[in-house]
Parts: sequence; C-alpha cells; structure tokens
Amino acid sequence: MEGFRAVILAAGKGTRLKSELPKVLHPLFGKPLLLRVLDTLNCLNVEEACVIVGHGREQVAEALNADEAACAVRAVVQEPQLGTGHALLQVRQKLTDWAGYAGNVLILSGDVPLLEAATLQGLLDTHAAQGNDLTLLAATMPNPFGYGRVITEGDSVRRIVEQKDATEAEKLVQLINTGIYCLNWAKISPLLDRLSNNNAQGEFYLTDVILLAVQAGFRVGAARLDDPDEVLGVNSRADLAQCHEVLNRRTLNRLMAEGVTIVHPASTLIAPEVSIGADSTVLPGCYLQGKISIGKRCVIGPHTTMSGVVAIEDEVKVVHSMVRDARIGSFTNIGPFAQLRDGVEISHHVNIGNFVEVKKTRIDHHTNAAHLAYLGDATLGAEVNIGAGTITANYDPIRDIKEQTVIEDGAKVGSNSVLIAPVTVGQNASVAAGSVITKNVQAWDLAIARGRQVEISGWVKRVKGISAEEATSKP
Ligand code: UD1
Ligand code: CA
Repeated sequence: MEGFRAVILAAGKGTRLKSELPKVLHPLFGKPLLLRVLDTLNCLNVEEACVIVGHGREQVAEALNADEAACAVRAVVQEPQLGTGHALLQVRQKLTDWAGYAGNVLILSGDVPLLEAATLQGLLDTHAAQGNDLTLLAATMPNPFGYGRVITEGDSVRRIVEQKDATEAEKLVQLINTGIYCLNWAKISPLLDRLSNNNAQGEFYLTDVILLAVQAGFRVGAARLDDPDEVLGVNSRADLAQCHEVLNRRTLNRLMAEGVTIVHPASTLIAPEVSIGADSTVLPGCYLQGKISIGKRCVIGPHTTMSGVVAIEDEVKVVHSMVRDARIGSFTNIGPFAQLRDGVEISHHVNIGNFVEVKKTRIDHHTNAAHLAYLGDATLGAEVNIGAGTITANYDPIRDIKEQTVIEDGAKVGSNSVLIAPVTVGQNASVAAGSVITKNVQAWDLAIARGRQVEISGWVKRVKGISAEEATSKP
C-alpha cells in the first residue's frame, strides 16, 4: 500500500462550545480530541502529517509538543480563520515542500474523534479502487441537522451544501458529509485558489471544492460509512457528551468480548486505553481513565475511580476507592474508601482498608494497613502491621519539605501512632499504641512514647460527692 500525507483541520474557535479552551483540546476520556484523531491516523501508513492551527494556537502547539507521538507533526498557522477551505489553502501557500507532491492527501477534522483506522483505510482503498481524484467519506444520518448534505445526481456526487445554505428540500437529505476526504493533491489543491466566500457564513468552504472538481472533469466519488456514530463531530458540549457515550460503549463492548463482566454498562465509564484481563468484574459506578491495565480475576468497584498510570496484577479487589498512579500486586485488597495516589507501589497479598490514604509509598507483601491511616513518603517492608489511626507525619511545614518514613519487615505499629519523619522503625520492632515516634526504633525493640497511665483511686466519687454507702448501693 502506497503512503499518503494528511492534514488535520484544527484552527477553528469552536464558538458553540462557549469555552476559553480551543475546541480541539477539549478532552475525550482525558485526551484532547486532536490527539485522539492523531492516534487514529498513526495506525496507518502516513508519510507526513500537518495540523492547521489558529485559534489558541500556542495552546494547541503545546499539546502537540507534549505528546510523544504528535510532536513530529508540523503545525501550519491559519490567521485569520476564514473557513475550512481557507484552512487547507494554508498548506498550499505555506508548505513549499508540498508543492510538487503527486500523492494523495487525507483531510481530517480535529473535532471528529471517533473515526476508526479501518474506516480511514477503507476511504483510501475506495479512492484507489475507483480511481478517484477526490473521494469524500459520507454517512447516512437519521438526524442530519448541522452537517453538510451530499447532493447526488444518480449515483454521482455533485456538490455539498451546508446546513445554513440548504433549501428546505436539501435539508431533508440524510446523506451527510463527514468532513473527511482523500484527494489527489496535485490535481485538487489548485482548486482551492478558486473558492469564494459568497455563502451564509461568509467563509471559504472546503466543501465547495467538490463542485469545482466535478466541473473541472475530475473523478469525484464517495465512500459510505455504515456506522454514523463514528463521524460524530464535536461542535457543542452536548456533542462532547454524546462522543463520551459512544466511545464508552465501544470500549465496554470490547472488554466484554474479551471476557470481562461489566455488571451495569450504563453507570460504568472506561477510557479506550484501559485493558482488563479475562474473568475480571467491573461493578457499577466505576470511572477508569488513563493508562490503566488490570489483570485477570480482579473485582473493581462498585464506585471506584482510577486515573494516571495504573498497573494492577491478577486477583486484586478495589472497592469504593480512588487510585491514581499506582502499581498493585496480585491478591491485594484495596478499600473500601481508600485513596492511593502519586506513585504508590504495592506488592502482593497486601491489605489496604477503610479510610487509608497512601501517597508516594512502597509497600511490600503481606503487609496490612486495615483502617484509618495516612502513609505518605514511606517505605514499608513485608509483613508489617499498621494499626488503625497511624500517621506518617511526612510534611515539615516550617521548612516546607517532605521527609521519609521507613518501616522495616515484620514491624508492628500500634494504633493511633504518629511517626515523625525522617524516622525508621527497624525489623520486627514494635511501636506501642498512641506513641509519637521522633527517633529511630532499633530492630526487635519496643518503643513507647506516650504519657504513662496514672490511676487516682475513687476520684470520680470524690468529685461527685458520693458517700461510701451510696456508692455501694448504686451501680
Ligand atoms: C464541516 C463541513 C460539513 C461537515 C462537517 C462534519 C465545511 C464548510 N463544512 O462543518 O460539511 O458536515 O464539518 O463534521 O467544511 N477549521 C479550521 N479553520 C477554519 C474553520 C474551521 O481549521 O477557518 C477547522 C475546525 O477547527 C474543525 C474543522 O475545521 O476542526 C471543521 O470546522 P467546523 O467549523 O466545525 O465545520 P462544521 O460546521 O462542523
Ligand atoms: Ca465540526
């Protein structure tokens, strides 16, 4: 298969979103629309791609640079933004090394994020098979409102009319323009010079190139798409919500086909990047977004969120919890109501229970922190027990620094202890409940750091003025 070049239109403001953020940077499951389009493109044999930027172009360029795969893409500035045809004209005018390009160019929209690579490949294949000079991707939409309509004559494509320019009869046409095209650059790009902005929006429409190409005698065809959901364009917040819904459904269907039980799809949101092993179950109310991989036979949820980079091995349970940037070993239980965040590494057979927060901490196997604890900037060995209410006091607010706590293998920390970092509790050492530990505890030692218990005989009776006889008659 021959290579091709690609242009992604992404200079528009996205007025209908009413946002300060450029439209193409609005996230779809955490990833900007534009980067989702680029990801799809990169599945194909693309030689070179450029992105038309304009509105908020510094922000868009920054997002491109920050992405590993997208940073090689060239940005071409369109200023001012006079329409989609004017956008493509910038490539013709500004990229001198494209002038002699004799191959095909795929035109994509930065606001059409659900397209699948196979569909684009289908468009390229149709273009080649029909020997076209210009092929547009068309779809039949039951409710075509807002899209350009494809006007045909017999089987041939004649032109495209935009919603705002369409007659009442044209508005009834359900065959829509997806805004995705494949064109022979040498033949079609010169037509861009001839576009006019004599239309309802006063813009230079790329869609007018279709009629110009037909009139010039070029071969113009259409590839038809079966699933119109794939070409949903994001123009409003409602469209963005719909894209989330469609992409979510696609992901859940894939996971279920791979052997994952999703008990209640309607309340489960999973980003497309997430992988989950067979025989795992996702219970209602989960929101998993990011580079997340979950092993086999895990139970996630109900009501669990994950984000960032999360790697979970087999047979793990995470109940009613929040997990961000963490690795969790097999047979470990998390929650209910635990929070793991910012670089947590937990080994196998660990138990992190109710209301336990773990931040930037490593925990070795068979260690328990079952209730009400804060473990931050800490390293816990194997078979450690953390009593309820234990706190690693990692933050020195006077010097504004974080300090480390080390709890070595086999150590037991009694309930309601505060370990003032930096501090180490040695192997198999024991910290008495209620201690405030400010010095290292040696291996096998017991550390008690609390006021000694004092008993004052009969104190309550004295205070209440109760005589000895009364005290024996009353309970
Ligand atoms: C466009 C098509 C319409 C099609 C629809 C599919 C035109 C005139 N209309 O309409 O036929 O049904 O897409 O989603 O092409 N852009 C620029 N520079 C500009 C204007 C827009 O780069 O000056 C970019 C936008 O950022 C966006 C894309 O082009 O990514 C499409 O622009 P938009 O204004 O959303 O066009 P639609 O009205 O959706
Ligand atoms: Ca659009």
